[in-house]
Amino acid sequence: MWERNIAILGGCGHVGLPLGIAFADRGQQVVLYDTNPAAVEQVNRGCMPFRERGAEELLPRLVSAGWLSASLEAACLSSVEVVVVVVGTPVDRYLNPDIGAVLRAVDSAAPHLVGGQLLVLRSTIYPGVTALVEKRVAELGLTIDVAFCPERIAEGHALDELSSLPQIVSGRTPTAIERAGRLFRLLTPDIVELLPEEAELAKLFTNTWRYIKFATANQLFMIANDWGLDFERIRHAVTYRYPRAADMPGPGFAAGPCLFKDTMQIAAFNENQFTLGNASVMINEGLPLYLVSRLERRYDLSETVVGILGMAFKGGSDDTRSSLSYKLKRLLQIKAKAVLCTDPHVTTDPDLVPLQEVLERADLLVVATPHPEYARLEVGLPAVDLFNILGRGVRV
Ligand SMILES: NC(=O)c1ccc[n+]([C@@H]2O[C@H](COP(=O)([O-])OP(=O)(O)OC[C@H]3O[C@@H](n4cnc5c(N)ncnc54)[C@H](O)[C@@H]3O)[C@@H](O)[C@H]2O)c1
Repeated sequence: MWERNIAILGGCGHVGLPLGIAFADRGQQVVLYDTNPAAVEQVNRGCMPFRERGAEELLPRLVSAGWLSASLEAACLSSVEVVVVVVGTPVDRYLNPDIGAVLRAVDSAAPHLVGGQLLVLRSTIYPGVTALVEKRVAELGLTIDVAFCPERIAEGHALDELSSLPQIVSGRTPTAIERAGRLFRLLTPDIVELLPEEAELAKLFTNTWRYIKFATANQLFMIANDWGLDFERIRHAVTYRYPRAADMPGPGFAAGPCLFKDTMQIAAFNENQFTLGNASVMINEGLPLYLVSRLERRYDLSETVVGILGMAFKGGSDDTRSSLSYKLKRLLQIKAKAVLCTDPHVTTDPDLVPLQEVLERADLLVVATPHPEYARLEVGLPAVDLFNILGRGVRV
């Protein structure tokens, strides 16, 4: 009855594209609907618009074999049994969640939705949005099952994690849960069923838990550092053959498009009563300021050219969204003689310079992203290296 199996609205993004590849790789006919013409054109040529492990080999194969295509036309949504919505769901510059992002996407899709479809929300959403979408769909007068099945992959690892992580599947009716479960069993037999409101919070808690853990490590690092002690030696002692602390992270910039904004979504949802979340934001977002303040104690920054190694928000990635390297850059631009930035993966920033130029011109380096390329880099310059990737410790 259906021309294709699955359409992904927002399908050329960081979540939609790997998901589409994974479904197509399991024998599903997938169309990726996206409003970004450059990304649609690239995907239809079989080229990844961003880095994702394993995708560069799979995408061209699936496109040329006809399993996967991208489209700028919303009409493609009419031809499928399942529509997955995975548009971005940011907080605004006042840190308020944009509750309408998914609703606007559903509204724009509405003229093309067809009775009998399954509508799967995959974006990370503010609690209650599934219920609002259910109401919108009911107003259309169509019999469409609505499910919320949050994405929990880490960028760069999506193709592994889509099948190695359990999938959370939620819906208000047995049919919605059954159909969504059948969809995600294409990826894994490991399914966890929840009510939509439980699933909405489960996804937000997943990211916030991680954000708070990073904040804890960052604060302990600052305490150790201010008392002249080596955090890495202490962390080793705490975690060494001690399972209860084995997951203690090291210090570093906790950034990117998800952790911070999902912590802010919980704060907004709970009427700003989220002390741990708010404190974590102060600590994680404050780390670049802490670094600069400690550098100022040791160097006359006005006479110092600082090189920043790594502008992506995490190691091995080309994604600069909400990267704290840029916050560090802005702070240093005010204080330092000059700031030079480099990154082996980022291709979207015309101000970056090659690593060699940074190494030749800088007086001081800050490793801001733990790209594997920096591991054991031989440099004669003083360096601040939160991730200890240069192997010289993390004191600042
Ligand atoms: N990036 C991650 O690692 C990650 C992990 C888990 C969950 N999430 C969540 O997944 C969602 C998507 O995040 P992302 O990183 O993929 O965002 P993204 O910006 O990379 O992708 C969103 C895509 O949607 C497209 N788009 C926007 N509005 C559209 C519309 N009305 N119609 C069609 N296409 C439209 C954009 O062009 C873009 O390609 C967010 O809710 C995010 O919180 C992200």
